[in-house]
Amino acid sequence: MLYNDYEGDNMKNEILSNLELEEDKELNIRPKTLEEYIGQQEVKDNISVFIKSAKIRSEALDHILLYGPPGLGKTTLANIIANELGANFKTASGPSIEKSGDLAAILSTLEPNDVLFIDEIHRMPRYIEEILYPAMEDFSLDIIVGSEGASRSIKINLPPFTLIGATTRAGDLSSPLRDRFGIISKLKYYTEEELFLIAKRTSKVLNVEISDEAAREVAKRSRGTPRICNRLLKRIRDFALVYEKDKIDLDITNEALKRLKVDKIGLDDTDYNFLMSIIEKFNGGPVGIDAIANSIGEEISTIEDVYEPYLLQNGFLVRTSRGRVVTDKAYEHLNIKKDV
Ligand SMILES: Nc1ncnc2c1ncn2[C@@H]1O[C@H](COP(=O)(O)OP(=O)(O)O)[C@@H](O)[C@H]1O
Ligand SMILES: [Mg+2]
Repeated sequence: MLYNDYEGDNMKNEILSNLELEEDKELNIRPKTLEEYIGQQEVKDNISVFIKSAKIRSEALDHILLYGPPGLGKTTLANIIANELGANFKTASGPSIEKSGDLAAILSTLEPNDVLFIDEIHRMPRYIEEILYPAMEDFSLDIIVGSEGASRSIKINLPPFTLIGATTRAGDLSSPLRDRFGIISKLKYYTEEELFLIAKRTSKVLNVEISDEAAREVAKRSRGTPRICNRLLKRIRDFALVYEKDKIDLDITNEALKRLKVDKIGLDDTDYNFLMSIIEKFNGGPVGIDAIANSIGEEISTIEDVYEPYLLQNGFLVRTSRGRVVTDKAYEHLNIKKDV
């Protein structure tokens, strides 16, 4: 059967664990200005206005919440905003802030109009979140000093700053936190044309030539996601290099993507395994997310954040009140007859 071709090493897990390393290497690939940032036109246009206004007022830009699936350019955009403001960029991530003191320490290093970026902000514990409320609203920090029994709260003034939060799940944010963001922007999947431009741009940064038809093929198979586009390009570059091609053409692109087990619409073996386990073990659904997570040995949040978004957007999977259902479109693509 077709899907057997897609068994093997679990590429997505590897990708996840290599993410930070990849991210380092990607520093050069990251666009540095709004102008270089491809797509997301509406978000870009609005943010550009808000940046200009903040500069005219000589005030800190209002707090911004960026949300959308992984790899769409949230971190990149946050960097660009700081860069366009001419402000310092400080980063933290939700899960790494464990104690309220951690956050207080970060906040107390802020200088006027700095940008503080908190990635995965939905994973910050609630009791820490509360420290952010007065910080965001009044630029003040309430800390408790003294030992038990004799403790008191003191207020420290912070300089005006801009908090940029990024999240894959805006719905997981508490409403008091969400309400304190003046600007909330949703990043969308990229069009093929936009990914084509990204493929072209990244090739230039990587210093390899790519034909238009090869770049278009990469764009088609990137699942609407710049991070995937760049990753595929780097791997295709590896094949081109080793097979002594002086340029990335359609042939080497197709060959490399075949070897990487990325199909015509960008699905890889993890997508196949994911869909196949719902089809084989649960007759295509409806099935609850916990049962799927159990059966493939994966965290629910990983399934929701990494596996599902593109399959949902692509119409291969639907969420119903009774659980996930694999669609006819997916059966057709997988070349599997549906049991009725
Ligand atoms: N609009 C864009 N134009 C060009 N490249 C982009 C764009 N958005 C993202 N990228 C590329 O995709 C990669 C992943 O983006 P990133 O900002 O890390 O995504 P996120 O933080 O949303 O997971 C970055 O290294 C960057 O090079
Ligand atoms: Mg990021």
